[in-house]
Amino acid sequence: MSLRKKLIAGNWKMNKTSPDALTLSKEIVAELGKVIDVEIVVCPPFTSIETVGKVVDGSSVKLGAQNMHPEASGAYTGEVSAPMLRALFATHVILGHSERRAYFGETDAFINKKVLAAIKNQLKPILCVGETLAERESGSTLKVVQTQLEGGLVGVSKDDAASVVIAYEPVWAIGTGKVATTEQAQEVHAFIRSLLAKIFGDAIAQKVRILYGGSMKPSNAPELLAQKDIDGGLIGGAALETRSFVDLVNAAIAAK
Ligand code: PGA
Repeated sequence: MSLRKKLIAGNWKMNKTSPDALTLSKEIVAELGKVIDVEIVVCPPFTSIETVGKVVDGSSVKLGAQNMHPEASGAYTGEVSAPMLRALFATHVILGHSERRAYFGETDAFINKKVLAAIKNQLKPILCVGETLAERESGSTLKVVQTQLEGGLVGVSKDDAASVVIAYEPVWAIGTGKVATTEQAQEVHAFIRSLLAKIFGDAIAQKVRILYGGSMKPSNAPELLAQKDIDGGLIGGAALETRSFVDLVNAAIAAK
């Protein structure tokens, strides 16, 4: 049994209107609201954070955001800050998702500012890293992951490091139905843990949860979650329906 509690986080991306988010979150809480063996986080779009926050309040399901701006307030049209998320009782925030990097030009330096701002505001960052297909095929997977990980964690103290969650998401596996093999995933997860040990020391590296993301679903989850360094999942498509999300959490409970 691992020392690390498994974590299943649902990344709803740009899906679900507020009424739809209300329905989904109510169903999730009805099924999973008392689960304590696995940490469960749902990350709705900003427009339904407050609604979902009220539904999960008092249950064991936690609330996360999909992004945020590093500044606390100011003239940043269209953006949302860490204090705003905290005021709605969010506990987690996904940062540096590959879609943010690819479509919105987010760099490691910018993502790093967000990681530090999240920590400062008691939000747990879920820092995403992962290579594209071209990068994997050219043999640069580990180099890319190292650059993103080290770049994202600049200035994070040892004391804060254990609360950071890392998500390894090979870009070629996101929303494509192509899941990384367990060997491919475990190799990168172990590499990430070795880098964390270099930066923060082994004791802290053993505490950090490293999630896998990319077409994870109930059918492939048991094998992935059985790997030594895979501590949960960041789930896109399969988090949009109650049944598959519940089945994923059950797979994590079975793998604990
Ligand atoms: P997917 O997305 O499960 O739909 O592949 C995962 C993610 O992008 O976080």
